[in-house]
Amino acid sequence: MERTYIMIKPDGVQRNLIAPILERFLAKGYILRGLKFLTVSKSLAETHYADLSSKPFFGALVEYITSGPVVAIALEGKDVVAQGRKIIGATNPAASAPGTIRGDFCIEVGRNVIHGSDSVESAERELGLWFPEGLVDNTPVLLSQIY
Ligand code: PPS
Repeated sequence: MERTYIMIKPDGVQRNLIAPILERFLAKGYILRGLKFLTVSKSLAETHYADLSSKPFFGALVEYITSGPVVAIALEGKDVVAQGRKIIGATNPAASAPGTIRGDFCIEVGRNVIHGSDSVESAERELGLWFPEGLVDNTPVLLSQIY
């Protein structure tokens, strides 16, 4: 079953958006396999965003992600990487459709409240980074017959 890494960024936490954001994924039907509230070290932020290290905004991005606690989330479900990105909306809130998380909750790309893995390969790498201890077994009993 496909898995993805979702992160509510410091602005999402500070603006009390943890519950409304989580609600969208869980109400859709994805299964929670990991959930943590943590302050991010500079080294973890730099490793997570390593692919962007040459971008002009890299320093600001690392500073942003380490500016306060985040919520790290592991979700599982059919096509959850692509569908999760749809729920999140376009990276730049100016282009995010209403009804998406970014379309509803933010206006600046540098404060865009949430991260979601952009591919199955990125998801596996990011889940390993944020949940090195592994994920929680959380197969719902009532749905177990369809998995
Ligand atoms: S790029 O340039 O196309 O590789 O970037 P993109 O895929 O659009 O975004 C990658 C992540 O960088 C964040 N981002 C920014 N942060 C701060 N300032 C600026 N200007 C900026 N532009 C992009 C963007 O939110 C992506 O982070 P995640 O956490 O993956 O959403």
